[in-house]
Amino acid sequence: MLLSIIQLFFLILFIRQITIVLIAWWTGTQSDVPFQSTKKSALKKLINYLEIKQNHKIYDLGSGSGQVVFFLANNTTAKIVGVERNRPLYLISQFKKLFNPQLKIKFINQDLFKINLSDADIIYTYFSPRAYKKAHQKFEQELKPNTILIAWRYPFNSSKFKLIHQIKDRHTMYIYQKQR
Ligand SMILES: C[S@@+](CC[C@H](N)C(=O)[O-])C[C@H]1O[C@@H](n2cnc3c(N)ncnc32)[C@H](O)[C@@H]1O
Repeated sequence: MLLSIIQLFFLILFIRQITIVLIAWWTGTQSDVPFQSTKKSALKKLINYLEIKQNHKIYDLGSGSGQVVFFLANNTTAKIVGVERNRPLYLISQFKKLFNPQLKIKFINQDLFKINLSDADIIYTYFSPRAYKKAHQKFEQELKPNTILIAWRYPFNSSKFKLIHQIKDRHTMYIYQKQR
């Protein structure tokens, strides 16, 4: 009995890992940014550093299966929006939301370039260097002064954004502020 429970546990773990690898490969064939997750340890350091307030609106652009959105919603009182183009990943996020109806979160199944970000206070991103180049113009034109832009793993280089802090973890988390 115990053996079959352990076997079932490892089978579920194995299927989960295979699914993650397949989704990462599939999203990578569709866009510049394959699905991968930010390290939770880095997110913990982020919320210790950033003073996130109740009236803040946070966007996770390319929210994957929603892990950053759920983490921020569980640890702050801000309003959080996840934008994800990949339909299965969006549906996984929506499914997880069913079990957390109390959280102030919303998921949008859309290309992030079609979303107006002018009401954002904080933008969370985990892009590739190529995707950051593509988003350059949008972020420079659309984000209001003082908006915080967080870039996990790869830096975002723009003269209109000042690097205000770096968090070291498995990768680096770069925190920028939009200049006036
Ligand atoms: C590296 S994952 C990051 C997931 C999550 N934000 C995190 O940090 O754990 C990037 C996600 O962006 C999504 N994505 C890529 N291009 C996109 C676009 N143009 N619009 C919306 N989502 C996009 C991918 O499908 C993928 O799920």
